[in-house]
Amino acid sequence: MWAGALDRLTRVVETMAMQTITLPDTDLAPSVLCLGGVPLGSMLDERRSFALLDAFVAHGGTFLDTARVYADWLPGERNASEKTIGRWLQRRGQRERLVIATKGAHPELAAMHRPRLDRASIVADLDQSLRNLQTDVIDLYWLHRDDPQTPVAAILDTLRDQVRMGKIRAYGCSNWRADRIAAAQAYARSQGWPGFAADQMLWSLAAVAQEALPDPTMIAMDAALFDLHVAGGLPAAPYAAQANGYFQRAAQGTLDAMNAASRRLYDTPENRRRSQAAQSLAAETGRSISAVVLGYLLGQPFPVLPIVGCRTVAQVEDSCRAARSPLCAAEIAWIEGRSAQ
Ligand SMILES: NC(=O)c1ccc[n+]([C@@H]2O[C@H](COP(=O)([O-])OP(=O)(O)OC[C@H]3O[C@@H](n4cnc5c(N)ncnc54)[C@H](OP(=O)(O)O)[C@@H]3O)[C@@H](O)[C@H]2O)c1
Repeated sequence: MWAGALDRLTRVVETMAMQTITLPDTDLAPSVLCLGGVPLGSMLDERRSFALLDAFVAHGGTFLDTARVYADWLPGERNASEKTIGRWLQRRGQRERLVIATKGAHPELAAMHRPRLDRASIVADLDQSLRNLQTDVIDLYWLHRDDPQTPVAAILDTLRDQVRMGKIRAYGCSNWRADRIAAAQAYARSQGWPGFAADQMLWSLAAVAQEALPDPTMIAMDAALFDLHVAGGLPAAPYAAQANGYFQRAAQGTLDAMNAASRRLYDTPENRRRSQAAQSLAAETGRSISAVVLGYLLGQPFPVLPIVGCRTVAQVEDSCRAARSPLCAAEIAWIEGRSAQ
């Protein structure tokens, strides 16, 4: 009887457990998988949003990603994702267990050419996010975009002041180029401060052509960025980490039903080849397609915390189960179509 109970308990613990990664120079140790917040409160109503968040936490997830602008391009409540997470936090009372990351300094949606990396914009966005999330402190504050015309020193000084005031615990960058990240890290070091704790870029198993991006201010993983992460061990938190479901759909034969923008971005001859390779690897190793897709990121030579954009509880569960089997270097090389080093 005891052996049966122990076995059941072991299975429950295995279901709950998810690897964590400590971000450099912080006491933040988020789950390796991060739940993306775009659909919360907009594409999904509050009941379905709460169900998604509950399912993620039940599977051991502790890392949530949102942004002040999510999803202001849709009609309805402004800053709906942050506000929905804020109401869920109030209802569930698990704030201390979670690592809440949000982003500011995004251009106004009607003026994407006008950067907002000045102090006043960063502070105004952050204060709005704190109100939306109904929290005193944001664990990880991402700069959603960059402005190469604004010196990194001015940006870092602003962020450091927000840490001193207790409004954020750590900061990171999203959609920044390698040379700007290197300059920011060097400035932080020269001041004796922690630099960016992580970097968020577009990256997945799918090869992406920069020219096919719908928004030119998005930065995809490239060779310079990759080398920077390898050299410094800076954690990456890639978005669109499942290539919008491209590989799962290709395996199921439902690519025709994928939305046109995602299909333009991902449905290329190279990604069809990668998809065949992913299916062979899944069959050979007993992994799911999602496990190959996420395992590709988790097996890289620096810490990677994929951000997944699930729309259903089943996708949350599948993604959480899939975040346990990093590919080895030879598998990554093979799936990319190059010989192992
Ligand atoms: N920093 C930035 O500039 C930036 C930009 C974009 C996103 N983000 C962040 O990254 C998050 C994720 O972005 P994303 O939604 O583009 O990522 P994604 O995970 O690549 O795409 C989400 C889509 O993938 C499919 N999917 C997810 N899990 C699946 C599973 N287990 N099996 C099969 N299909 C699955 C679903 O497609 P279907 O709906 O077709 O089923 C889902 O809507 C966002 O919520 C946001 O937090 C950041």
